[in-house]
This record gives sequence, structure tokens and C-alpha cells, in this order.
Amino acid sequence: MDVPPSSPILLFDSGVGGLTVLAEMRKLLPDAPVIYAADMAGLPYGTKSEAEVAARVAGLLGRMAERWHPRLICIACNTASTIALGMVREVLETPIVGTVPAIKPAAELTRTGTIGLLGTDSTVRQRYVDDLEREFAQGKKLLRYGASGLVALGEAKLRGEEICVDEVTKAASGLVLQPGGESLDTVVLACTHFPLLEPELREAFGDDVTFVHGAQGIGRRIAHLVAGQEFERTMPDFAVTTGPLDDFERLADAFADHGLTGLAHL
Ligand code: DGL
Repeated sequence: MDVPPSSPILLFDSGVGGLTVLAEMRKLLPDAPVIYAADMAGLPYGTKSEAEVAARVAGLLGRMAERWHPRLICIACNTASTIALGMVREVLETPIVGTVPAIKPAAELTRTGTIGLLGTDSTVRQRYVDDLEREFAQGKKLLRYGASGLVALGEAKLRGEEICVDEVTKAASGLVLQPGGESLDTVVLACTHFPLLEPELREAFGDDVTFVHGAQGIGRRIAHLVAGQEFERTMPDFAVTTGPLDDFERLADAFADHGLTGLAHL
């Protein structure tokens, strides 16, 4: 079936983390109409139960798919993807691209064989991650650390606030001080909020560690899935929130930097 040229690509996250994916997608698909949805009323996902995250994600994506008929949905959130990707793919007809920890590229990059996985508390305990480890990191050591505290820091940074880097230092120690952590050379940033803090993480881990995250690969995957489709932007791209609009407006500059000039309540 032909996709209407104005049909948007819908990116979804609990907050602003998905902007790291949008930035990569824009490089390949500058003309694609975009709606960015942030479940600010549900933020943070990383400290919630699996059942709660799954219910929120399925409910919201169902509602938005009905309202905007997106050509494709990207769940630009590792926590939501590792919990609910299979389930939402079963119930929605729209093609769905998930964001899952970049363990495969990290396993190809590491020289020492020791990889760190920095995600939310929820992501690092998911069976999805066990499966990725079994499939792609055989013979490597994968150290995991739940750093949910970094999510609020990424949000604050994009609101233009001063941030305190104690949580970043704690996250780095949480990996490096584990048995075998001294040989860590590659760290997977398994939460879309974390690349927003790359300079702070770089400072904490030092120059010898390589960071890997999925945003570029996800941008390429989306571009591949919509290849050959027509695009026509009939209105400015916009962002919607489940939370209060005045809180959302404090992020207006960050959204505008990513081409999202309208802000609305979902
Ligand atoms: N950005 C989300 C992720 O990639 C998590 C943020 C949250 O905890 O809500 O995991």
C-alpha cells in the first residue's frame, strides 16, 4: 500500500533521550515529517516495573498510531524497547524500529574483551540483554551497571541547567570497580539519554574507553525501511508530551535545535 507523503515518522521516548536518535535520522532523511512524543508524565521509565512500562508504551503508541497514522514508529528508548518491543509489534500494524543495547558493535570493537553496559536499572536486568550477550558477546566479559540517575541529568542539561557530575562519576566507578573492570575498553551507552552526557562521561572514563551507542545504526535502519517513499511536510514538525506543557516549554530550545518547532500536549 502506498504511504501518503505527509505521513510522519513517530519517535517515542520517555523524555528527550530520543533526540539523540532523531539527530542521526535527520542526517539521512532531512525531508521526513516527524512527530516526537515524550511520555514526560511517565518519566523515568528506568525505575518502573516492567508491567507499568509495557502498559504505558502499548497504550500510548496505540493511541498515537490511530491519531496520526505514522508510516513508521521508532521506540527511541532502550528501556521501553527491551521490555515492550515484541508486544507492541504484535498489536500494531505500523512498522516499528526499536532501540536496543549496542552489544554487537561493542563486541566487535573491544580489544581487551571487557565491555561495560551502562543503561537504566531496568534495561540492565532485561532478558533481552541476556539474549544479546549470549548471541553477540560470547567469550567476552560484559559488566553491567544501572545508572538511572543519569536520565534526569540529561534532561536537566537540555533544559540548559547547570548539572552536577557526581552521578556520572558514580556510574563510571560502578563499572570500573567491578571485578575485571580495570580492563574495560568499550562502554555501551544503552540509554538514549546517555549520549547527551558524552563529554561528562568522557571526562569520567578517560580517553582510553570507546563509547558505543545505537543511534547511527537506528537512523540507517529507519532510512532503509522508508527507502523509495515520498515525503511532504505539510506542517512544521512538532513534539508532544503527556506531562504539563509549561514544563515541556523549558525544553523548547532543545526541540527547536532538532527541527521540532511546535510543542503540544498529547
Ligand atoms: N531514554 C530511555 C532509555 O533509552 C530511558 C529514560 C528513562 O528512564 O525514562 O532507556
